[in-house]
Amino acid sequence: MSGGDSAVRTACVVGSGGREHALAAVLARTAEVVVSPGNPGIGGTSPEGHTVTSVATPPEDVEADLYVIGPEAPLVDGLADRLRAAGKLVFGPGADGARLEGSKAFMKELLAEAGVPTAHFGVFTEPGPATAFLRSLRGPWVVKTDGLAAGKGVLVTDVLDEAVADVEAKLSGGAFGEAGRRVVVEEGLTGPECSLLVLCDGERLAPLAPAQDFKRRDDADGGPNTGGMGAYSPVPFVDDALVASLVEEAVAPLVAALRARGIDYRGVLYAGLMLTPDGPKVLEFNVRFGDPETQVVLPRYDGDLCSLLAEVAAGELRSVPRFAPEAAVCVVCASEGYPEKPRTGDPVAGLEEAGAVEGVTVFHAGTAADPARPGGVVTAGGRVLGVTAVGPSLAEARRRAYRAVGAVSWPGMHHRTDIARAAAGDPSTEKAEAAR
Ligand code: AMP
Ligand code: GLY
Repeated sequence: MSGGDSAVRTACVVGSGGREHALAAVLARTAEVVVSPGNPGIGGTSPEGHTVTSVATPPEDVEADLYVIGPEAPLVDGLADRLRAAGKLVFGPGADGARLEGSKAFMKELLAEAGVPTAHFGVFTEPGPATAFLRSLRGPWVVKTDGLAAGKGVLVTDVLDEAVADVEAKLSGGAFGEAGRRVVVEEGLTGPECSLLVLCDGERLAPLAPAQDFKRRDDADGGPNTGGMGAYSPVPFVDDALVASLVEEAVAPLVAALRARGIDYRGVLYAGLMLTPDGPKVLEFNVRFGDPETQVVLPRYDGDLCSLLAEVAAGELRSVPRFAPEAAVCVVCASEGYPEKPRTGDPVAGLEEAGAVEGVTVFHAGTAADPARPGGVVTAGGRVLGVTAVGPSLAEARRRAYRAVGAVSWPGMHHRTDIARAAAGDPSTEKAEAAR
C-alpha cells in the first residue's frame, strides 16, 4: 500500500466521541466513512464529497476495507482480534497489546523491564503496605486505579492524608468497583506535559505531531483530573529532535518488550510524557488515539490518513507522516458536575453559529439527538463538545476556538479559559504555565 493511492474505499470507525468524530472527518478526505455507533454530530458529506454516516449496526456487521477502533474498552475486550479473525484489516491492538492500558500495573512493570524512564512506583492490593509506601515518598503523591477508569482514576495531591484516604477508598472497591481493587502508587513528578502519538505496525514506528492536553477540570490546573479539557498542537517546547529521542528512549524499548512477549502491536501508542528536571519520563501509555489530542493532531495531517492507517494495520508502515504548519486548538465544553456526576439532557444551543466561525469544527463528544427539544441536540455525557479551530498560528487558532465557544451554550456548561494560552504567547500566564 502506498500513500496517495489508498485501496481503502470505506473505513469503519468504532466509537461515539470527539476522537471518533475527528477520525471520521479526516478519513473522509479520501473514503466513505461509517461510524459505529457514532453520534448526532457525525454525518453528512465531507468537502471532498465522501459520505460520513453514524450507524447502529455493530462493527462486526459493517462491511469496510479498514476498521479503526477508537476507545480503549473494545480494544481491551478483544474487538480487534475478533475482526482480524474474520479477515478484516484492523487498526488497533489485540487484547494482548491493549492490556498495556487495561492494567496500569502491567504497563509499569513492562516500562521498568524495558528500562523506560518513569515515576518510581509500587503496586498494591492491601491498604497497609500501600500506605507505608506512600509515607516513604516525598510529595506530591499519586494514586492510580489499576484498571480502566475513563481517565478519572488518578489522584495527584500535595496532601499525604488525601492520598492515604484515596488508597483506602479505591481498595475497598467503593470508588471504582473491581477496577479499583488494585492500585499503583507513584512519586509525583513535575514539569510540562506532552502527549506523543506514535504509530506502530508491529515493528516500525512513526510519530505524529505532538500535542499538549489539559487534564485538570479548571483554569490554572485546578480541580480534579479529567479525560482532558482541551489540547493544542504543535507544542512549541517539543521540537523534532526531542520527538526523535522520545521515540528512541520511551517507545522503541516498550515495543521491543511487547515483541519479546510475542505481541504484534498494530495501532497507535499514546505516550503521556512529563518533561521533568531529570529528563522526560513516561506517565502512561494508552493503546489508542488521545481524546482530545486527536482533534488537534489529525486535522493538521498532510496526507491520506486512510492509506497511512491501512499501512499500519497491514504491518507495512512505509510512509513518514507529515503535518501542515497550521496550529490547532480544541476547547472541551463539559456538563455541569463533570467528572464526578455530569448532568445530561440539556438542550445545546448555538452549534450552527459556532461551526460558522472561520477554521472551526465542532466535534461532538457526548451528545444525543432529541427532536423534541430546541436545536434537536441534548447533552448526553461529561465532555459534550470539542470546539476545535485551525489557524495560521496558535494565537489565531485559539482566538477562533474561543470565539466559537462563546456561541454555544446550555445550562451549566463549563470550559477552561486558558487552553493554549501560554503556548500562544500570552505573557500574563507564563508563570502558571511554567508550573505545568
Ligand atoms: P495518567 O492517566 O496516568 O496519564 O494520569 C493522568 C494525569 O495525572 C497525567 O496526565 C498527569 O497530569 C497526572 N499524573 C499522572 N502520573 C503522575 C505523576 N507520577 N506525577 C505527577 N502527575 C502525574
Ligand atoms: N487526553 C487523555 C487521553 O486520551 O487519555
